[in-house]
Amino acid sequence: MSASASAPARANLIGEHTDYNGGYVLPMPLDCATTVTAKRTGRTGTVALESRTLNRRAEIAGDWSRRGDWTDYPLGCLVMLRGRGIDLPGLSLTIDSTVPMGAGVSSSAALEVATLKAVRALLDLEIGDVEIALLAQRAESEFVGVPCGIMDQMIASLGRGGEALLIDTRDLSRRPVPLPDGHVFAVLHSGIAHKLSESGYADRRRDCTEAARLLGVATLRDVASGDERVANLPAPLPRRVRHVLTENARVLATVQAMEANDAERIGRLMLESHASQRDDFEVSIPEIDALVDAAMRHGAVGARLTGGGFGGSIVALLRSADLDGWSRAMQAGFPGTSLISPRQVTPLPPLPLKGRG
Ligand code: GLA
Repeated sequence: MSASASAPARANLIGEHTDYNGGYVLPMPLDCATTVTAKRTGRTGTVALESRTLNRRAEIAGDWSRRGDWTDYPLGCLVMLRGRGIDLPGLSLTIDSTVPMGAGVSSSAALEVATLKAVRALLDLEIGDVEIALLAQRAESEFVGVPCGIMDQMIASLGRGGEALLIDTRDLSRRPVPLPDGHVFAVLHSGIAHKLSESGYADRRRDCTEAARLLGVATLRDVASGDERVANLPAPLPRRVRHVLTENARVLATVQAMEANDAERIGRLMLESHASQRDDFEVSIPEIDALVDAAMRHGAVGARLTGGGFGGSIVALLRSADLDGWSRAMQAGFPGTSLISPRQVTPLPPLPLKGRG
């Protein structure tokens, strides 16, 4: 008997670096996903892993400790299930994925959530989708060693195609938000790999924890927007706090604009968010700033860096009719880039054949 489950990649539309500050996020699932197929093998204590995407296999018997490679993501999930008191049989897990790695669209959360959901289905476990997200986040932070927030695992576990999800990361309450009519969010990978474990992500997180400590609050979500003490924090903490506070307000304003189908306003908020990531939170890089500028020159309604930063992808809001022309212009101007989503873009017309007839 076998069981399969899939989980999508994501683009965060707005609300960056707010999830580990108790704030709001607005991610959307993408049309690429990771699928895991789980089977019982009868060899208790042993996990056979195969990644068809990487063309790699590994067999882990007995010692389930961190190995420092791709196997850590599925193995970390199994370790979390065991930690929850679940008796695991011998398992084989096969991974297939259309999610690009290092593009900042959370291939890791897709793999974790697909693993947990496949094992849940195989063993008929009673674990809800929110708990799946929490187990996946613990696998990533405690086992893999990346101190991520909860956004990626929540959208990978609960996201539905065709809508964004507003998540309040303080209590994990959420509500679906409609995408603007006649428009599309396009995700373009810069070609510069973003690697959470090696980036300044942990440094930024530390800045936020330190600012919250100095201000005497549990998370930066609890700081009032007019709090005058923020300006007296040591540099660069005032800028970091300003990003988090203004970004939370922008998420709520974007939700209103999406519900009012006001694409122009969404676009303006995306640009403000990008500027705040660039200037206050300092997680952008010049190559990504150049992509955002070019995206606007080529007709986008709004654009911003999406995900953890220091490379990765931009998300751009476009009128649907502009998608083909925009993506061609971007890829012509920046040959290292690739369009990750939407995947169904009209192919270039065939070149006229020469020298025949
Ligand atoms: C990464 C993390 C998320 C979130 C974003 C930044 O994707 O995994 O938890 O912090 O960066 O918004």
